[in-house]
Amino acid sequence: MSKDTYFITTPIYYPSDKLHIGHAYTTVIADALARYHRLLGKKVLFLTGSDDHGQKIEKVAEKRGITPKEYVDGIVPTFMRLWERLNISYDDFIRTTDERHKKVVQEVFMRVYNKGDIYKGYYEGWYCTPCEAFWLESKLVDHKCPDCGRPVELLKEEAYYFRISKYADRLLEHIEKNPEFIQPESRKNEMVQFIKSGLEDLCVSRTSFDWGIPVPINSDHVIYVWFDALTNYLTGSGYLQDEVTFKAFWPADLHLVGKEITRFHTIIWPIILMALDLELPKQVFGHGWLLMDSDKMSKSKGNVVDPNLLIDEFGADAIRYFLLREISFGADGNFSVEALIQRTNADLANDLGNLLHRSLTMIQKYFDGVIPTPGPENELDESLRKGAEAACQEVDRYLGQLQINAALGAIWSFIGRTNKYIDESEPWNVAKSQDTPRLARIMYNLAEALRMTAFLVWPFIPATGESILEQLGVKQEFQVANRQWGLLEPNTKTQPTGPLFPRIDIKEREAALEDKKSKQTEKDAGEEQVDELISIDEFQKVKLCVGHIVDAQSHPNADRLVVLKVDTGDEVRQIVAGIAKHYAPEDLKGKKVVIVANLKPTKLRGELSEGMVLAAVSEEELGLVTVDKDIPAGAVVR
Ligand code: MSP
Repeated sequence: MSKDTYFITTPIYYPSDKLHIGHAYTTVIADALARYHRLLGKKVLFLTGSDDHGQKIEKVAEKRGITPKEYVDGIVPTFMRLWERLNISYDDFIRTTDERHKKVVQEVFMRVYNKGDIYKGYYEGWYCTPCEAFWLESKLVDHKCPDCGRPVELLKEEAYYFRISKYADRLLEHIEKNPEFIQPESRKNEMVQFIKSGLEDLCVSRTSFDWGIPVPINSDHVIYVWFDALTNYLTGSGYLQDEVTFKAFWPADLHLVGKEITRFHTIIWPIILMALDLELPKQVFGHGWLLMDSDKMSKSKGNVVDPNLLIDEFGADAIRYFLLREISFGADGNFSVEALIQRTNADLANDLGNLLHRSLTMIQKYFDGVIPTPGPENELDESLRKGAEAACQEVDRYLGQLQINAALGAIWSFIGRTNKYIDESEPWNVAKSQDTPRLARIMYNLAEALRMTAFLVWPFIPATGESILEQLGVKQEFQVANRQWGLLEPNTKTQPTGPLFPRIDIKEREAALEDKKSKQTEKDAGEEQVDELISIDEFQKVKLCVGHIVDAQSHPNADRLVVLKVDTGDEVRQIVAGIAKHYAPEDLKGKKVVIVANLKPTKLRGELSEGMVLAAVSEEELGLVTVDKDIPAGAVVR
């Protein structure tokens, strides 16, 4: 008997930057599958989240002059907002900075450690900071990271190691006995080769940065990001904290991951679970990438597509539909706005939108907008009903094999079949002949085919599914029991509200874009004349605070400069200031000044300077900006 729960996950995304359409791709797929299983009546746990820790985040935050926590707290809500806009129905959003997660990670670490599977050693290896991955020299390509092609650096540090080599044979056996475990097949073969080529023990801690969960037995170390990140699937399903949920959902039915992180999910992750004596996930699916002009999207290449802008212009369902329909799941696929428009026009506006519009218009015209009681079913009607039943079966079969675009293909052939039914049944002629029972049957069938369509499309494009039901006047739950031909009640009053998808005219759109661009150029030119006014946002980027000068010395190599030690509340910084002509060092000690706290550190004539002291300057004089009340060091100046 299949279990009545379904546990599906997306990777937890790095908040090192805003999300792009490639991230939305995985999440939309996960959402469609989660909704589909809910429709089937399963209790679903759909987990997504953010991977808040790691050196990369620490560096990004440092660059902005804020703490890593401040940085991630600023960006993670934008993830949630995007998911809301895309109608992503996640059940839990886990952040690796959640307190609940910290506890689980530390406990998992200790359990594996106490089992003797984690030991202390030294790490020396090639590290790719953007990917947060160490590589064996033999795996580098042209001495660069084999995943992203960026330079790697040689690092040596004390580190804890996870004895994954011990589990290699057990893992190979598991993969062999469970052909569904790694999908698609090509990825599985890749992983088997990788394991057979020899697994090295995995480094699971770091001392070179702080932004992570501390190793419980050694606070000099933080837990290496993959050990931390993968464990999110345990925390999110209640491990060690909510045993009822955990028991109901564990193990995960499906981890959806991009191809470059399949290795972590099919080697390290199952081995962590083996060390914990926990059941392994049923399946890890490593999907392909969404490419822009056949190239991977990345900020540095400047080819990322912002899903928010697409939603503004085309709406969430058009984007969801495109992502799910256009790309064969598993393989890489191309994204382009032209293809998105084409799909929207052809499939959504024409095939589906017109079908709804035509049907509702006829029901209005012939039966005052009320679903009539149908007359007898003839052969043509039977073929339509069978078409609906076949579409349901095919969707079930394809989704069982994660062939998402094929499932949508099956639905759209049913939509095509229904459009053809209008032509074949010729309702306009039936109306002329005044055969009311026949006309009623045709109208009922059209409305019923649309109701079935609403149930079929709902997991993929939920707002559209809901709108079709509303326009038909049907109030039914999206449950599989309702996805059956014949459940439309005669006498239901339809409620047309307008087209599902407006047709996008490419020429008009281009003209509008051109227009917008030229208006923007005019606006920019206008703004330049206003003597470079800045916005409040720009001003707020500069962090000013009160600094207490605790020491001042002449600069050893420059007469103009003074080397200050300034207390900024939580630390004492060295700041080099060009004020020697105006102040003797001994007069500076004790002054409360205003400093720029988030200036990039620099060296001035060999001395490190971590900030800037503000001063008012005229042609002859210079006066420090001081604070005229007893305000403590570190207080914000604004
Ligand atoms: N934080 C890790 C995952 C930890 S899971 C325990 C991570 N984060 S990520 O933000 O870099 O990437 C998350 C996912 O987005 C990956 O599965 C990755 O493949 C996917 N994608 C990133 N760019 C993509 C495309 N252009 N196309 C499709 N998926 C893409 O890795």
